[in-house]
Amino acid sequence: MDFLTQPITIAEWTAEVRRSGGSVGFVPTMGALHEGHLDLLHRAKAVHAKVGCSIFVNPLQFSDPNDLKHYPRQLERDRALLEKAGCDVLFAPEKEAIFADFRPTVYALGGLDAHWEGPSRPGHFQGVVNVVERLFHYVRPNEAFFGEKDRQQLALLRYIARSERWPERVTGCPTVRATDGLALSSRNARLNPEERKQAAVLHRALKAAAALAFREPVEKARQAGLDAIATEASVVVDYFGIADHETLEPLTTWGERDKAVALVAAQVGPVRLIDNVTLQR
Ligand code: PAF
Repeated sequence: MDFLTQPITIAEWTAEVRRSGGSVGFVPTMGALHEGHLDLLHRAKAVHAKVGCSIFVNPLQFSDPNDLKHYPRQLERDRALLEKAGCDVLFAPEKEAIFADFRPTVYALGGLDAHWEGPSRPGHFQGVVNVVERLFHYVRPNEAFFGEKDRQQLALLRYIARSERWPERVTGCPTVRATDGLALSSRNARLNPEERKQAAVLHRALKAAAALAFREPVEKARQAGLDAIATEASVVVDYFGIADHETLEPLTTWGERDKAVALVAAQVGPVRLIDNVTLQR
């Protein structure tokens, strides 16, 4: 596996793959890799000649400086995991390299940041879109793979890719879960064993809402989720809601739609966790 830190070298790497007729799949990450990231990598490998992964803890997307400070960083371990998983190139730029001559763009996010993570994390999505634009600008992949766990991020990146006419294809992949249902996340590493057990309530709550979806009123399904979370007294809910599958607008009725999404964010010990599930009629 090649290990590159300079934007120009990753641009050349991609150009070389393209010259030999190959396509490039790309998995952008902030490191502290887990099975969820490796699943994205395997999906990319299944359809592209070469796959690249980036590790960059993007300061622009952290509204809480404490979260940025404590975000797990373990480059050597990540590098070994990627090597073993068959990644062809790891791009791990320094902040100075990725943001050289950079002026952030204020993107029109089409209202997709109006709810859920948007109000809780001001500036977060502008930070994500800006850094993904920089990464795409240097890596120039054919297709990039993102986890559905960050559903709002995925919806926004798809929207921006369309509205800004980015040539890269943005592909969403199913959330990878632990056996107790907890969505894999780099932040889980900061939970102690007791908190780790408590965190599984988030998926139980989403399942409780899913069991009532399209059969009972929206509010009843939402309340079932909140009631489930209340069984873990130390888990503090930020939001639990049901939204339109595409626009992520909160729903009050199911209407004619066939699909919706239940979303949750909650504080568990020192970390704020998010998760979601698709609701099918
Ligand atoms: O999902 C993430 O890990 C990050 O938000 C991303 C897409 C790598 C941008 O920093």
